[in-house]
Amino acid sequence: MRPHLTVLAVLLICVPVEAQSPSRIVNVEARRTTSLNGKWRAIVDPYENGYYDFRLQPSTDGYFLDAKPKDKSDLLEYDFDTSGQLDVPGDWNTQRESLFFYEGTVWYRKTFDCQSKPATRLFLYFGAANYEAIVYFNGEKLGSHTGGYTPFAFEITGKTREKGNSVVVKVDNRRHREAVPTVNTDWWNYGGLTRGVSLVEVPETFVEDYFVQLKKGSTDTIAGWVKLNGPRLRQRVSIRIPEAGVSASVSTDANGYAALSVPAKLTLWSPENPKLYVVVIASDTDSVRERIGFRTIETKGTDILLNGKSVFLRGVSIHEEAPFRTGRAYSPEDARTLLGWAKELGCNFVRLAHYPHNENMVREADRLGLMVWSETPVYWTILWENPETFANAANQLAESIARDKNRASIVLWSVANETPVGDARTAFLKKLAGQVRTLDQTRLVTAALLHHNDGGAAQGNTDLLDDPLGADLDVLGCNEYLGWYDGLPDKADHMDYKTIYTKPLIMSEFGADALYGLHGDPLARWTEEYQENVYRHQVGMLNRIPYLRGTSPWVLMDFRSPRRTLPDIQDFFNRKGLVSVRGDKKKAFYVMQEFYQAKQKEYQ
Ligand code: GCU
Repeated sequence: MRPHLTVLAVLLICVPVEAQSPSRIVNVEARRTTSLNGKWRAIVDPYENGYYDFRLQPSTDGYFLDAKPKDKSDLLEYDFDTSGQLDVPGDWNTQRESLFFYEGTVWYRKTFDCQSKPATRLFLYFGAANYEAIVYFNGEKLGSHTGGYTPFAFEITGKTREKGNSVVVKVDNRRHREAVPTVNTDWWNYGGLTRGVSLVEVPETFVEDYFVQLKKGSTDTIAGWVKLNGPRLRQRVSIRIPEAGVSASVSTDANGYAALSVPAKLTLWSPENPKLYVVVIASDTDSVRERIGFRTIETKGTDILLNGKSVFLRGVSIHEEAPFRTGRAYSPEDARTLLGWAKELGCNFVRLAHYPHNENMVREADRLGLMVWSETPVYWTILWENPETFANAANQLAESIARDKNRASIVLWSVANETPVGDARTAFLKKLAGQVRTLDQTRLVTAALLHHNDGGAAQGNTDLLDDPLGADLDVLGCNEYLGWYDGLPDKADHMDYKTIYTKPLIMSEFGADALYGLHGDPLARWTEEYQENVYRHQVGMLNRIPYLRGTSPWVLMDFRSPRRTLPDIQDFFNRKGLVSVRGDKKKAFYVMQEFYQAKQKEYQ
């Protein structure tokens, strides 16, 4: 095979540059940014020919060099400039028919000019890339990121040139047994740069991160911290909420860190009044603004208390599937549409399943007054005893908390969905729940558990929630499919839900498939009448559970799944939506709407 080394390749071998670990930049929308969204050149590389040589050794002159032939005799077997294009943000699966089922590597390349500024640092910021991304800049490897649903950034200060900077990203969405999620999911494995990419400018020493929420259990004290990043770590940092007359300042330590505790008289955020305040955090060298809501969320026995008052979480589960066009949702419009339908259903709560959704969703939930269940994709049966799997799950959880910890809307962090009870699994999830509490003491921890029939005296009419993980959760989530995977719709009439815990329950999934517009008798599967029938029996059963404090039926809108192959009905869609992908409301939508009107009255 051919030995071919460019000067740059030689340089990179002789003076290898240490890859960075990804940085976490929060509240990017408040920063001076340059969007790199739009058309990117893309090379589809199923054999990773751009990364490995024919001996499967990492190649030194792969596609990441974004090279050009030196002269007419020079051999180069790729060329970004004549390759096709893909839109960013966006999954590749719905952009090209040939990539609909594609799982593998795609190389993305974007060029841009850049004037470097004095005393200014520059970061390359990715909202998300599914699943593994390796990022190169002007031929140099910056670093890599694993996990398809959380942001990451790499610093490129001092690495830019005035003209023709080249960003090359190798994105690989192949599934792996040890990954998170693992190889089987009931959602489409959309690959690509699925969320926005931008250049983020910050001062040399900048406000890297901050946590500004009400102190646990208090409605009149803000507690949190600020963290500076840069050469001048010891500074005075002020926190101001002009509208509420709050103004305080703290001194950061040698690590640029300072805790803060500030008395404040605030209007509390709630679904009825989603009050957001402009909060300004400023040091001598930097200042950043953020719209933040302040509320308390806690449990008391089987109650969930929002600002000290018992609430019922009238919710719906949502996948990050784009309404109308399908594919991975990412935009503010997608968020407004999906959350708008949830509001029409009568919701004050949404379960964003099964992974952290894009930031537009949670910020829109802040504005609309929707409480949020945010989940880490520990889904079904992952490798509980694999330490890398744990580190991966823990990192995705930490990244989502880092991004969303100042969102009033987020009230629940979920560490798992439908995982099989077992010692290794329970130990894994207890540790993950512990990590949540270390990172955020202000919110509740939950998981979507499975129940089991206790097979006791009630001869199968009692489902028991006694999963040992329940002991480490503040709120129990439970998925059940009475009337769909488990019996016929009326089975719910005879079912009791018992638990060994004195904790609030959210029925985090229930429902049935129906193809919008398909009608028939209430026992004919796939019809709207069957789905409606399931919901009618469900709400009867739900009203009989004394410690039920929330519901998030599965699911707001039909979504793509590779596991759903029934022709003319599913066609690779899970049809459990209460609305179709075009927003057509199925009959069951109105059963839930009615149930929520009653719940709203009950909890007024
Ligand atoms: C499961 C799972 C969902 C899935 C749903 C279904 O409970 O959590 O991800 O889509 O059931 O089967 O429709």
